[in-house]
Amino acid sequence: FAHEQQSLPLKGKKVVVTAGPTRERIDPVRYISNFSSGKMGYSMAKAAAALGAYTVLISGPVELDKPEGVQLIKVESAAEMLDAVLSEYEDASIVIKSAAVADYRPKEQHAQKMKKREGDSSIELERTTDILKTLGEMKKNQVLVGFAAETNDAVGYGQSKLKNKNLDYIIVNDVTDPNGGFGNDKNVVTLLSKNGTIQPFEPMEKNKLSLLLLETIMNEESEHK
Ligand code: CTP
Ligand code: CA
Repeated sequence: FAHEQQSLPLKGKKVVVTAGPTRERIDPVRYISNFSSGKMGYSMAKAAAALGAYTVLISGPVELDKPEGVQLIKVESAAEMLDAVLSEYEDASIVIKSAAVADYRPKEQHAQKMKKREGDSSIELERTTDILKTLGEMKKNQVLVGFAAETNDAVGYGQSKLKNKNLDYIIVNDVTDPNGGFGNDKNVVTLLSKNGTIQPFEPMEKNKLSLLLLETIMNEESEHK
């Protein structure tokens, strides 16, 4: 029994993970989205479940199978993801926001397929709600973990997002790194914490990296409690 407890450090805890892109509809046949594959989020959810957590995975549209032992909630838009996350937030111990949430959505959603017209050259956009920032403002005891994929100055941008969104950790990666990034099975990341620590990780398979990241976060949490 002692061994079981040791190997399942998240037993009795709830972990919420978001993954994948969101899709913002323009009309019934078109949308705005991004290249997120969802792989990193799905592997974070698998890692949480493997460590014994009751794991809720809130996922945008991806081509991945539901991981075993994980409760999957499928969403499409940023607004739907916000609702799903808020309904799972209160009793969560750790919230990991791997999703690549669209920053903008079309101001209007057309009920019918739009027709091209002479002179048309733009669609009007509006900002989506920053889900993670909202969670940061409401935070009680939850450990809040963000992600940031950048093309340059990943650590610098990561540190300002960590602060602006009131996060405990942010996992940053440089998408131009040939060893990692969108769609790749491997990733190369740096873990930044609210205590100012900067921990780079070797390029690693996403499943292995996810376990290591969660374990590192749990260690750091137990040291600062
Ligand atoms: N995020 C979110 N809701 C949004 C936008 C982002 O929850 N509407 C979350 C992402 O899930 C991620 C973190 O915020 O965990 C950082 O996302 P990122 O796109 O890197 O940051 P932004 O604040 O959107 O800044 P920018 O895209 O301008 O770099
Ligand atoms: Ca963004």
